[in-house]
Amino acid sequence: MSASFTPTPTPTHTHTNKPHSRWSDKQSKVLGDLAEEFSVSTSQLERLTTAFIDQMQAGLAGDQKSTDLAMIPTFVSGRPDGHERGSYLALDLGGTNLRVCLIALKGNNDFESHSKAFKVSDHLQEAHISELMDFIAISIRDFITSEHISSKIVEHPSGSETLELGFTFSFPVTQTAIDAGMLLRWTKGFSCPGAVGNDIVQLLQEALNRNEVNVHVAALVNDTVGTLLAHSYKHPNTFIGAIFGTGTNGAYVEDTRGIKTMTTPTTEEMIINIEWGNYDKDKRFLPVTIFDNKLDRESINPGVHVFEKMISGMYLGEITRNILLHLIDQRLLFDGTSSAKLNQHWSFETKYMSQIESDTSVTLIPIAQILEQDLGIYLNTQVDREIVKFVCQLVGKRAARLSAMATAAVIRRGLSVEGRLAGHGYPLKLSQGDHAIGSNVNKNGTNVHESTDSVVNQGLQPIHVGIDGSVFEHYPHFEERMVEGLTELLGPRTKDIVVLGIARDGSGVGAALAALIATKNVVYSR
Ligand code: BGC
Repeated sequence: MSASFTPTPTPTHTHTNKPHSRWSDKQSKVLGDLAEEFSVSTSQLERLTTAFIDQMQAGLAGDQKSTDLAMIPTFVSGRPDGHERGSYLALDLGGTNLRVCLIALKGNNDFESHSKAFKVSDHLQEAHISELMDFIAISIRDFITSEHISSKIVEHPSGSETLELGFTFSFPVTQTAIDAGMLLRWTKGFSCPGAVGNDIVQLLQEALNRNEVNVHVAALVNDTVGTLLAHSYKHPNTFIGAIFGTGTNGAYVEDTRGIKTMTTPTTEEMIINIEWGNYDKDKRFLPVTIFDNKLDRESINPGVHVFEKMISGMYLGEITRNILLHLIDQRLLFDGTSSAKLNQHWSFETKYMSQIESDTSVTLIPIAQILEQDLGIYLNTQVDREIVKFVCQLVGKRAARLSAMATAAVIRRGLSVEGRLAGHGYPLKLSQGDHAIGSNVNKNGTNVHESTDSVVNQGLQPIHVGIDGSVFEHYPHFEERMVEGLTELLGPRTKDIVVLGIARDGSGVGAALAALIATKNVVYSR
């Protein structure tokens, strides 16, 4: 099974979760109940945020029994400020495409990138790891030859003939150095034997040597870390890098005094890969429904990454499909008739949700086209189409609100006494027992926050969050729904202080920056 997600961009418009007046009583009742189940209230978000922060702290303290968050120190200490220069190879593996890039960092917050994508077939996603690594090595060789890379190198790091490469590997890896890390588990449909428990850098370096490709793997980074570094290159002091795409995850800057798993840190800060897709895998806090449970049970990694399965592009379509079938079976949709296509696992892609949510026409004919052409549902009424759209809105909105929760939790951790943003005087300030900034403000009707202008006047940087991933970039209303959730959790001035920005090509540029950090800096190790 594999799924990538590239939905169509869409205009914004207002939307409603209220059942429609033309629906039958039974339709209104069942859809009203579904709306209830899929809505995540501010107080639920609050509870989830508090538990998330507790789990972050447990992970940082090395108490893996009390947390599902791996909180992996990445050995990337320090963030770029846009002055860095040099050319590096970058590799990006995390889904159905492998991308090989040459990144030229120009030193003025700008860069140039050439890249080539190679399809990772379904077979390779399950093949032995040595086969996957050989494929990667050969793809790198193909890129170097076809792009005449040697002639494009503008400034060769350390004058060596060997090309330095940064590897963005978007799976959970525990790192022991910036260029060493062991795969914890596969996610997003990959299951290659021979990789879990082994060092990914070593596996790739061996494949490069085996295939006589003169490239040195200098750094290994998660895509969230790459995104954070790449966004810092444009916006120094970026605090979070997050992915909302086929999968989801976040990385942020931690004060090393807060990382109890590291002894005698020599740097003040370090980027932590949270691996938040695995948050609350035992479902103690998350509002999981029978539709989520069904998806999880039938996935190739049941019982893990439950949070990711409620949020990311690989899974949203399948949750929606489960709900549609549930409605069909009660004769509340399509007059009780499904199609062979809709009955198939994973057949309802998240990109259809994106297209469906962007249809603002009255008759919803574009939705009819998807139902007919892509899903073989030829008999569908306008009410059917309204119901399909309504279901997509429930699933899409919940995903955005849960994404906001994780982001808000990381910002609160940053503002806490041990966190990296503490003492910087941000107006979004937590004091003990005062977790609920947003709800306190709402309840008391008082505004304890100041605007960005005053933040800037105080000499403070806004809190930048660099985000990559097709769900954030293209799913209708995702950003707006996320900002709504963030505001409920962090207060009414959040929009001015917390700046969400798209970090395009985070994986490529970030990997290049990591290679630069690794080859020019002393590498910090345990
Ligand atoms: C992986 C993370 C990755 C995220 C986004 C998750 O499935 O575990 O390492 O950052 O997907 O690509």
